[in-house]
Amino acid sequence: MSSLASKQGPRYRHASGEEEPYETIAVEKLTPIIGAEISGVDLGRLVSEQGSNRQMDEIHRALAENSVIFFRDQAITPAQHLAFGRKFGDLHVHPAAPHEGDDPALMKIYADKDSPRANGEGWHTDVSCDVEPPMGSILYIKQCPPRGGDTLFASMYAAYESLSDRMKAYLDGLIALHDGEPAYRGLYANMGVADRPTYPRAEHPVVRTHPVTGRKALYVNRGFTSHIIGLPRDESDAVLAYLYQHCENPLFQCRFRWTENAIAFWDNRCTQHRAMWDYWPHTRSGTRVTVKGERPV
Ligand code: SIN
Repeated sequence: MSSLASKQGPRYRHASGEEEPYETIAVEKLTPIIGAEISGVDLGRLVSEQGSNRQMDEIHRALAENSVIFFRDQAITPAQHLAFGRKFGDLHVHPAAPHEGDDPALMKIYADKDSPRANGEGWHTDVSCDVEPPMGSILYIKQCPPRGGDTLFASMYAAYESLSDRMKAYLDGLIALHDGEPAYRGLYANMGVADRPTYPRAEHPVVRTHPVTGRKALYVNRGFTSHIIGLPRDESDAVLAYLYQHCENPLFQCRFRWTENAIAFWDNRCTQHRAMWDYWPHTRSGTRVTVKGERPV
């Protein structure tokens, strides 16, 4: 560690407040900044008649406080996976990815030795090219490789809060274009999905305010953001390159090591994620249910 770092401490200081205890679930934080593992809950039971509203309220709270939450050893059916998603809102149908079975809201996540790529290999926020991008995604991994296949998550609250005041002032009010076309065209050809005539594109604020927590979060990502509107292209490219690099600081991240039948539920409004495809030639598979969101402000 440099003497500067040891004298000044980390550049980003997370202000963790007094924590109110949970009564119906156990919440174990992965880092002070992002991610928590939840135990003491059976999601299959929760979505049935026997589930308690108090437990649902506490899961909502755990998501708001940690931005991404994880559950292990959940033997749920596709119908229960979909029903758990519906507890948080209407379900989103992916504009390009294949689905598992009959329900288009049950997105298929699959990579094996013959795959040319795996889903979500670069840092991104899900489908930010939609006018109303998804609020959250619930990924259920049923088959894991013996090692690897982790998912990394990064807090866009921490990324925003650690910017200099000058950079915050510069970004204030800027709007960026998010484009699905370069991201999705041809992407799922190997899974038998034909291209659509067009893909979604939308304009969103570079900094958005979370509708539940009221906190500000950076909302640009390598996967979909094409440019910042109204800036010369070279300036937009330079600013976005800086922001992407800044967002990828390990200080803002947690890393989830999957086990079979684990679930990750992330809030797309304040996180980015990246899936590690380091397990070839092994297979990793599961399904994702995505919950609709609102227009970012
Ligand atoms: C995704 O981006 O939804 C895929 C994440 C993963 O497979 O870990």
